[in-house]
Amino acid sequence: MKIFLDTADVAEIRRAADANLIDGITTNPSLMAQAAGKGDPRDIFLEICKTVDGPVSAEVVAIEKDTMVTEGKRLAKIHDNIVVKVPLTEDGLRACRALRADGIRVNVTLCFSVTQAHLAAKAGATFISPFVGRVDDISGDGMELIGQIRQVYDNYGFETEILAASIRHPQHVVQSLLLGADCATMPAKVLYQLLKHPLTDSGLSAFLADWKKLGKEL
Ligand code: E4P
Repeated sequence: MKIFLDTADVAEIRRAADANLIDGITTNPSLMAQAAGKGDPRDIFLEICKTVDGPVSAEVVAIEKDTMVTEGKRLAKIHDNIVVKVPLTEDGLRACRALRADGIRVNVTLCFSVTQAHLAAKAGATFISPFVGRVDDISGDGMELIGQIRQVYDNYGFETEILAASIRHPQHVVQSLLLGADCATMPAKVLYQLLKHPLTDSGLSAFLADWKKLGKEL
């Protein structure tokens, strides 16, 4: 499963990319607004693309199809790594088809149901982003949604990649792995939680303490 970092913070991205922990990046307008401050968001997208050798999702902010397509084409010109993100609306799906016809990869975002995911796949989406955490937030079952989309895509041979999004904790990642999601995007905090285990830390401390007693070098 591909692991994406869900951030526009270049320092965070650099750390994870240097350690080869990530396969790509997702951003959204809220994350970009936080990171860009007074700077130009396009400069940040370019910096991210140069830092990570993989897909970098950059979201349009228009809500009408033609303007989404214009923005999407502008974003795609920034770098080959850019994947244009469009919301799962009627206009978003129309923009998805138009951008795909132009050879531009599209991530259809804000997906909360199997029927939405089905329509996005029919519109040629490269990635579908079901927001599991936000489904859980309203007492739904975000992971059940991932499993259902997996089944539907497999039933009909859709090649759209399932990108589990709005990941809040490592169990979301475990379930994504078990259910066969193609990718999961998460904040840096969750990424490093995947790496940590208290028994690794205590085991290492014990090994090092024993070795120190020996008083020799390797
Ligand atoms: C995905 O592409 C979104 O940017 C993200 O996962 C949303 O996560 P949130 O629900 O934690 O804001």
